[in-house]
Amino acid sequence: MDKIYNISVIGAGHVGLVTAACLAHLGHKVCCMDNNPSKIDLLSKGKIPIYEPGLEEMVLQSMAEDRLFFTGSMEEAVNHGEVIFIAVGTPPRENGEADLSYVENVAREIASLMESYKLIVEKSTVPVETGEKVKNTIKLYVRKNVPFDVASNPEFLREGSAIHDFMNPDRIVIGIDSEKAKRILMDIYKSLNAPIVVTDIKSAELIKHASNSFLAMKISFINAISRICEKVGADVEKVAEGMGLDKRIGREFLNAGIGFGGSCFPKDIDAFIHISESLGYDFRLLKEVKRINDEQRKLVIQKIKDVLWIIKGKKIAIWGVAFKPDTDDIRGAPAIDIIDQLITEGAKVCIYDPQAMENLKTVFDDSRIDYVQDKYQAIHDADCLLIVTEWEEFRNVDFNLMKKKMRFPFIVDGRNIYSSYNLQEKEFIYYGFGKPLPSGVKSQMRK
Ligand code: UGA
Repeated sequence: MDKIYNISVIGAGHVGLVTAACLAHLGHKVCCMDNNPSKIDLLSKGKIPIYEPGLEEMVLQSMAEDRLFFTGSMEEAVNHGEVIFIAVGTPPRENGEADLSYVENVAREIASLMESYKLIVEKSTVPVETGEKVKNTIKLYVRKNVPFDVASNPEFLREGSAIHDFMNPDRIVIGIDSEKAKRILMDIYKSLNAPIVVTDIKSAELIKHASNSFLAMKISFINAISRICEKVGADVEKVAEGMGLDKRIGREFLNAGIGFGGSCFPKDIDAFIHISESLGYDFRLLKEVKRINDEQRKLVIQKIKDVLWIIKGKKIAIWGVAFKPDTDDIRGAPAIDIIDQLITEGAKVCIYDPQAMENLKTVFDDSRIDYVQDKYQAIHDADCLLIVTEWEEFRNVDFNLMKKKMRFPFIVDGRNIYSSYNLQEKEFIYYGFGKPLPSGVKSQMRK
């Protein structure tokens, strides 16, 4: 029987909640703490405040089997956990720097409450050298010389497949500076069949920022290639296929389109640029990754104008606003910038998304935006359909019905989901990203 640990997870956001649920699923006794009382109230009733496939079942099962409970009390969490994961937010400041005040606060509270050995583990994405600062803070505030270790154990889960990613990781990264911390973390993850990278704390912190930045760079790289493809009439999907078959490159994260969003890539790139700068390195490569990504969102509007000329007064239907499928998350979503540009230009926007509309309503409460409950209703009398998120339900559609419903059969496909259908044959004007234009269509954008 593997060793069971008493673990506390501080922060019941996406990462904290999934970490708590999965650690409990592995057999550990987990306390998940959050300082938001209404969240704890919901969770204690088995209700999950975020949309993440499989999470609710996992939480309910572990609660029923007494391996998981929720609390709003830091004292209870510190008393319970020999191992304490910090999974609180590290939101961006105006200048892109990560705001570490929540992490510092938690470290201070843990220090003042701990009475016996604790292993304090950074789970939140943090800039390099945060571990050192956490350690110094705990040393400052700890009472009675209680022993402790600090470790870094970054998380690589993706929203929408978070449970699967946690339980089947490509690798587990453990940044430690003591044998005891190493042994405990190796024990905790023993039943997961994955390579473990054991390193110092700073390298572990860098692995997280470097991995997210590298993935974002792949996306911006293929989007840059897609711009060239559009200029010469080449096909970016074929280019990505040809590149991706080289094992050193790989096909994943080479999907061209309107670019990346979410609560991780944009924020992590900004934070990485900022920490690099404060360490004396100008990370210009990453600044360019960000610029290319911003440009893709503007390109959508150019594509619409290329065909409709004037956007003012036109009805633009949008399918999908979540930053990617299988989530209701709209943080950093390309849809937000795109909708903002469309309404600024005077368009009437009609939106359908299977999960994310309620969240979007908190950003846009505008009479020029309609929210509808059905994808076909959204395109009624539309001058253009814009695909922003590649939800599964948009892949298999009735194009004849769509043509009948739309005022003008024009599709801008921000995720290239219809690129293999010959939509020109079905009398649509179809614009993908990095795809050859239909013959006969002369683009203003080529110039
Ligand atoms: C990302 C990383 O993939 C996770 O490994 C990491 O743990 C997580 O950030 C985090 O730091 O917490 P996530 O933000 O959930 O996960 O989403 P991804 O699936 O990586 O997608 C990010 C964005 O890139 C989405 O907007 C997606 O549409 C876009 N994307 C992805 C592309 O535009 N093209 C691609 O080829 C792939």
